[in-house]
Amino acid sequence: MVIGGGPGGYAAALYAHNFGLKVALVEKAIVGGVCLTRGCIPAKTWLHAADVYRTVKEAGHYGIESSEPTVNWGRALERKHEVVNQLVTGLGGLLRNRKVDVFNGFGRLAGPKKVIVAGEHGEEEIEANNVIIATGSEARSIPGYDIDGERIVTSDHALDWPERPEKVAIIGAGAIGCEFASLLSDFGSEVWLFEMLDQVVPGSEPQAAKALERALTERGVNVRTGTQIGNPVPVHGRLQVPFGEESVDVDVVLVAVGRAPQTENIGLDTVNVGTDRGYITVDPSTQQTSEPGVYAVGDVVAGVPQLAHAGFAEAIAAVTYIATGTSAPVDYRAIPLVVYSHPELASVGLTEAQAKEAGYEIEKTRHPFAGVGRAIIIGENQGIVKIVSEKDGPILGATVVGPSAGEMIHELMYAVAWEALPAEAAAFIHAHPTLSEAVGETLLGAAGRSLH
Ligand code: NAI
Repeated sequence: MVIGGGPGGYAAALYAHNFGLKVALVEKAIVGGVCLTRGCIPAKTWLHAADVYRTVKEAGHYGIESSEPTVNWGRALERKHEVVNQLVTGLGGLLRNRKVDVFNGFGRLAGPKKVIVAGEHGEEEIEANNVIIATGSEARSIPGYDIDGERIVTSDHALDWPERPEKVAIIGAGAIGCEFASLLSDFGSEVWLFEMLDQVVPGSEPQAAKALERALTERGVNVRTGTQIGNPVPVHGRLQVPFGEESVDVDVVLVAVGRAPQTENIGLDTVNVGTDRGYITVDPSTQQTSEPGVYAVGDVVAGVPQLAHAGFAEAIAAVTYIATGTSAPVDYRAIPLVVYSHPELASVGLTEAQAKEAGYEIEKTRHPFAGVGRAIIIGENQGIVKIVSEKDGPILGATVVGPSAGEMIHELMYAVAWEALPAEAAAFIHAHPTLSEAVGETLLGAAGRSLH
């Protein structure tokens, strides 16, 4: 029995088919969860629309003349719905084909092997040998900023804005903050991006964060890192956001300060499931909680990245253990992280700072996109690739900031996961002219024998 139909939950239900398990899944809203309906997919659809607009606007540079493009926000919003609906419908079909019993309603545990589904037509009790909790997360806010969905919003609301806001303050320059700053500025909004820590995408390689910050600033985003904001003050129908000695009046504040686990009212008090600040603690080798037969996957799990693809991997680990008794833990060392801003920022494994903190003696190599043929052809030759390896040892981590970074990071994912030595990875040949050559050049550099 799976509680929650987001990436963690639906992946568990789908994957269980491989082992012939009988599966039911309960979802209170729409299968697909935040990722499909209010997160990854709609956000990237908006980002793509922004990319198209920017590309058309800049087409003259490439010798393609067209009249000045305008944004039809309503059509872009409609396309977002179309993309989401296509994927949600497809997922419904997949679940049906795999004979998953999908219940619409709110699921809660009533003891270790019992789930109560509260649906439109009352309550139903379902017995299960194993229960997987995949109830996900919800946007959190900060004191003084009560989410009203109009003036103070989260990404949930921003993805459905009926029209483009003129002036926006974004609080938090993590993945959500940077992606919205990128797309809103591309569409022509004035954006103020506030981050209390000293760089955008805190925790990422500082040079890469700086490159992203520079790109956003060049497109007109007012980035304020290391900045504390005060409580908002309503002024003439707008909101004044104070920071330091200054303030800015905006139409809307988008709060993007992280996501909290959804564990309320799911009957955790009826089982012996351990929690840590609301998150569910699990044995990382099996995803099992402290209650035998009860598992957790996805954003609700304590101490792991809140990423859809981490949820998929945790679901596979949980189901594999349930079906076979074999532990197949998630390899968190090599989970890629991608911020889909323009430019994209992608990383895998350890940053330089993390590697040093872990006690490694390290070597680092950087290569810019500046001289990479393909990057010049497409007019996007800003950005870098950085590889961190152990001195005379394997590649520990990598970061790419630049065009298609989110696609390119995967070859570095293999290098990190397989603990490749730079010289081993550098022995392979990259097609020319490709953006991936930037990775190839960095690997050659890391092996101590640069080409270009
Ligand atoms: P986040 O944790 O990535 O970033 C939140 C940011 O807000 C942090 O940099 C934090 O320092 C800052 N912050 C917190 N309080 C603040 C304050 N009072 N003033 C200024 N800054 C403040 O959370 P985010 O961006 O909301 O995303 C939520 C989750 O969803 C994250 O785990 C993220 O990784 C995931 N996500 C991943 C995406 C991706 O992989 N492309 C896209 C969107 C979200």
